[in-house]
Amino acid sequence: MTTAGSPSSPKRLVTAALPYANGPIHIGHLVGYLQADFWVRWNKMNGRDCVYVCGDDTHGTPIMVKARELKITPEELIARAHAEHFKDFSDFGVEFDIYSSTNTDENRKFAEEFYVKMRDAGHTNVRPIEQLFCNHDKMFLPDRFVKGVCPKCGALEQYGDSCDKCGATYAATDLKNPACAICGSTPVVKPSETIAFKVSDFRDYLRVWVREHAPEEVANKLSEWIDGELFDWDISRDAPYFGFKIPGFENKYFYVWMDAPIGYISATEQLCKKTGRSFDEYWKTSDSEIYHFIGKDIIKFHCLFWPAMLKNVGFKSPKQVFVNGFLTVNGEKMSKSKGTLVAARTYLNHLDSSYLRYYYASKLNGQLQDLDLGLEDFTNRVNSDLVGKMTNLGSRGAQMLGKRLDGRLCALDGKRDAEAVKLVASAIARRKAIAEHFENRDFAKALAEVRDMADDANKYFDERAPWNLIKTDPEATRLALTATLNVFRQIAIALKPILPVYADRVAKLLNEKPYAWADGERILESGTIGEYEHLATRIEAEKVNAMIDESKPKTTEPAKTPAPKAAVPTADSGPLSIDTFNQVDLRIAKIVSAEAVPEADKLLKLQVDVGPLGTRQIFAGIKSAYDPKTLEGRLTVIVANLAPRKMKFGMSEGMVLAASDPDGGAGKGLFILSPDAGAKPGDRVK
Ligand code: MSP
Ligand code: ZN
Repeated sequence: MTTAGSPSSPKRLVTAALPYANGPIHIGHLVGYLQADFWVRWNKMNGRDCVYVCGDDTHGTPIMVKARELKITPEELIARAHAEHFKDFSDFGVEFDIYSSTNTDENRKFAEEFYVKMRDAGHTNVRPIEQLFCNHDKMFLPDRFVKGVCPKCGALEQYGDSCDKCGATYAATDLKNPACAICGSTPVVKPSETIAFKVSDFRDYLRVWVREHAPEEVANKLSEWIDGELFDWDISRDAPYFGFKIPGFENKYFYVWMDAPIGYISATEQLCKKTGRSFDEYWKTSDSEIYHFIGKDIIKFHCLFWPAMLKNVGFKSPKQVFVNGFLTVNGEKMSKSKGTLVAARTYLNHLDSSYLRYYYASKLNGQLQDLDLGLEDFTNRVNSDLVGKMTNLGSRGAQMLGKRLDGRLCALDGKRDAEAVKLVASAIARRKAIAEHFENRDFAKALAEVRDMADDANKYFDERAPWNLIKTDPEATRLALTATLNVFRQIAIALKPILPVYADRVAKLLNEKPYAWADGERILESGTIGEYEHLATRIEAEKVNAMIDESKPKTTEPAKTPAPKAAVPTADSGPLSIDTFNQVDLRIAKIVSAEAVPEADKLLKLQVDVGPLGTRQIFAGIKSAYDPKTLEGRLTVIVANLAPRKMKFGMSEGMVLAASDPDGGAGKGLFILSPDAGAKPGDRVK
């Protein structure tokens, strides 16, 4: 399959749709940017020369109107947005080679070149139009800035292009009782002229083009359109407008969608100036491949107008346009009032970006379907797979090897443990399929393979039971841990396009350089590992709920309706479902050592052995009831999957259960629980 890195593999230029500068990045946008980021990182890690280009889309009426509203200039508005968007993307681990803007000198130059070549080749025409003009706001009103009564069905409050109720499409001037959506006054009809790009001149070219460069289901839809009423496309807007002036006209500007995709080109030029790369190799000669990642709402712009524009100007066209579906949350369209229209920044205020990266990857299969973020599913999937299956493997293996066996790895000797050799070989054998899935942007399938790797390794680990084996045969234990850590290493390598920070930490743990894809061909059979540092904790449902709360519109009035049900059940959201209860991992633990924390009057510091889950440190508020020495060697019950908590005295990685009188003061009547004889460390309590 991939021959990336060899001289015969073409460079790749990857773009993601340029987000509008008039609003914040939200978790819906992120579907596309993250997906492209996974793919770019995969390409780079696999040795391919690949660059990721993006920037803000800065022109158009909504940006002009928003700036007026904020009483700032459009330039100030887009400068703010640029800084915010860039920070949001960086904090989500989206790593662009350049994050540019459409409001640059380079972009103006290319926009003019595109237009002049269109005009001179006879592919434009100028025709009279009638448009709605608001005398109060002193501007022509785009379709989305007019509201009125649908001329077909009479529905109220419809936009100037189509009716939500009956689906009719019409011209804004056909609306009955039109009103300016900004100020509410009645607009007047004003005659003007518009410049159109005659897309129909490219009909034959496009017919073939869409079959080769757009997804199949998209091509079918587009073909109907190409064969039908492929109309001329208006590329001009009258002043006032925030954008580039059209050469040869006093009061006309390029429509935002004319210069927006040209932004891909001008951003590439800036990148090439910065890095000394060849611009022509990307956009003119056949030495490279261009890929666009877009959402399904902007297909026409990328698969009809854009290839026709490129063809006319003599630039190369994209090899493929990849289209993603829309994000829904809990099965519904994102909604402000439900708090599901979550801004990227709001998400980051509560949760780690790696969770969303993992979750989106687990659902993205390179197809056009919509994708749902089920909040409970999100929590469960991250907790059970990423934390429970994958991370635990590394933490259990590394901590035991580090603490009990000097951190030294050993050779995987098949005569001593044939299973160990088989386990690692089978993980390595999955790499071919994983690479193919990455190449095809089927991240869901790639992650399914990684999960299977982890399942096999967890099964092996539990069979070897190193927590017992170590008592009788330390070298066999070392071998079992070496095998386990090798699979964990394979997991980290395969996760790297999705979780680059995680993979880098694992490389550090195993005393290796940051991973390239080819590093997975090797097995680690000597050397020592570093100290285990924390990799990933479980998602707490409370944090998800807090994020949703923060996303709800702020009202100053007290809520009249009862508070809606929490997005993910918490203790006070009604009776507990069995599924929710099952999320609590109760385990038998053996108290290995106990000591008082001198600075705290209630706390004992315990080291507990949780069998297969390893040894943990827990701070328990039972100092007043127990002499630490009497606890050593006792079995008790702990909550094993509480998020580790950083306390003044160190990390607490769980909670010891104790009985107490609900009305009693602290210290009176505190009783830790003990199982009957026969229970052993690590047993599950249900
Ligand atoms: N500015 C244009 C793109 C110009 S490209 C030359 C634009 N901007 S946008 O901010 O509205 O959208 C940016 C990207 O996010 C687009 O690919 C769009 O399809 C995508 N999405 C916007 N909302 C989305 C969801 N709810 N779900 C998935 N993708 C979404 O369009
Ligand atoms: Zn108005």
